[in-house]
Amino acid sequence: MMKAIVQHRYGTADDLELREIQVPTPAAHEVLVRVRAASMHADVWHVVTGQPYVLRLMGAGLRKPKNPVPGTDVAGVVESVGKAVTRFRPGDDVFGETIRGMQWIHGGAFAEFVTAPEDGLVLKPAAVTFEQAAAVPTSALIALMNLRDFGRIRAGQRVLINGAGGAVGSMAVQLAKAFGAEVAAVDCTEKLELLHALGADHVIDYTTTDFTKGAGRYNLILDIPGNHSFTQCQRVLTPEGIWVLVAHDNYGKGRHRCLGAIPRMLALMVRALFTRQLPRATFKLPDRQKALALLTQLLETGQLTPHIDRTFPLAEVPAALRHLQTGRARGKIVITMD
Ligand SMILES: NC(=O)c1ccc[n+]([C@@H]2O[C@H](COP(=O)([O-])OP(=O)(O)OC[C@H]3O[C@@H](n4cnc5c(N)ncnc54)[C@H](OP(=O)(O)O)[C@@H]3O)[C@@H](O)[C@H]2O)c1
Repeated sequence: MMKAIVQHRYGTADDLELREIQVPTPAAHEVLVRVRAASMHADVWHVVTGQPYVLRLMGAGLRKPKNPVPGTDVAGVVESVGKAVTRFRPGDDVFGETIRGMQWIHGGAFAEFVTAPEDGLVLKPAAVTFEQAAAVPTSALIALMNLRDFGRIRAGQRVLINGAGGAVGSMAVQLAKAFGAEVAAVDCTEKLELLHALGADHVIDYTTTDFTKGAGRYNLILDIPGNHSFTQCQRVLTPEGIWVLVAHDNYGKGRHRCLGAIPRMLALMVRALFTRQLPRATFKLPDRQKALALLTQLLETGQLTPHIDRTFPLAEVPAALRHLQTGRARGKIVITMD
C-alpha cells in the first residue's frame, strides 16, 4: 500500500484527500517510480475541476476523473521496470511525464509511487535536485514546443514572452536565452525581479505598460495569458514575425467553461492559412525523448534552472492547488514526499 492524493469527483481542492491505496504495477513498457517530487501546474487544475467541460469527453473521464490520482510531472528513483523496458533499471534517478502526449488526464504522480511510460522518462542529472527536476517536464516541454516548433526561434531574434513569471513563462525566458534570442519579458510588478534573474534583457510591467502600444518590434511573441488579440499583437510584430498563443483559462475566470480556448484556437488555425504571422496548425507532437534530452542538457549546463516558488508536502496538495489558483506563484510549485 502507499499514500496518495485521490479525487472521486470533479470539484475543487476540497475534493482532494490523502488516502492509502494499492501501489500500481508497471505494464511491459512502464517503469514504477518511487516519487521524490512532483509538480503542480495549470493542467492539474483543469482535470481536478473538469474544466473546460470538453476535456471530460477528451479522455479525462465523463462523470469523474478516470484516474483518481492527480499529478503528471515526476522525479524519483526507479523501483522496478516492466519486462519490455530496456533503458532503466532499479535505482536509477529519473524525471519526466507520467502521461502520454498532450493528454488532459490525471497522471498519478501525487503519490508515493507512480508508473510512467519508459519513453516519458530520462535520467536525472546528478547536480539537479529531485525538486528542480520535477518542476521541468510539462512546463518546459510546452515552452520548448511553442518557441522552437511553432515560433521557429533563431539566435539574434527579438522575442517577447507575455506571462513570463509563471510556470511556462519562467522556462520560456531561459530557453529563449539559450537559443540566443534577445528577450523582453512581461508580467506584473511583483514578478519583475524574477524576470531579471531569469536572464530577460528587458522587462515590461503589464500593470503600467501595454506592450502592444510600445515602440519595440518583435520577431516572435509567445503569449501565455492571451489577453490581447492577434490584431493588437500584430502591431508590434516585424513583417515576418510570429505570434504563438498558449492561452490561459485563468483558473476558471475565463469565460469559456464548455470549450475553453478551443474556439479561439480554431479561428486562429483558419486565419493562419492567410498570414505568415501565425504558426500553421499541426497535431504532430515533437519527439518527447529528444525534447527531454535537450532539456537535460540545458539543466546540466545551467542554461535552465527551474525557479521554485514554494514546495508543499504530499498531504498539502490541496493547499498547493489553492496557491496555484491565486496566480501569484513565481515560477513553479513543487510537491515533495518528505
Ligand atoms: N497550448 C499548449 O500546448 C498547452 C499545453 C498544456 C497547457 N497549456 C496551458 O498553458 C498555460 C500555462 O500557463 P502557466 O502554467 O505558465 O500558468 P501560470 O503559472 O499561472 O502563469 C501565468 C502567468 O501569466 C501572468 N499574467 C496574468 N495576466 C497577465 C497579463 N494580463 N499580462 C501578462 N501576464 C499576465 C501571471 O501573472 P499574475 O497573475 O501574477 O499577474 C502568471 O505569471 C495554462 O493555461 C495551461 O493550461 C497549454
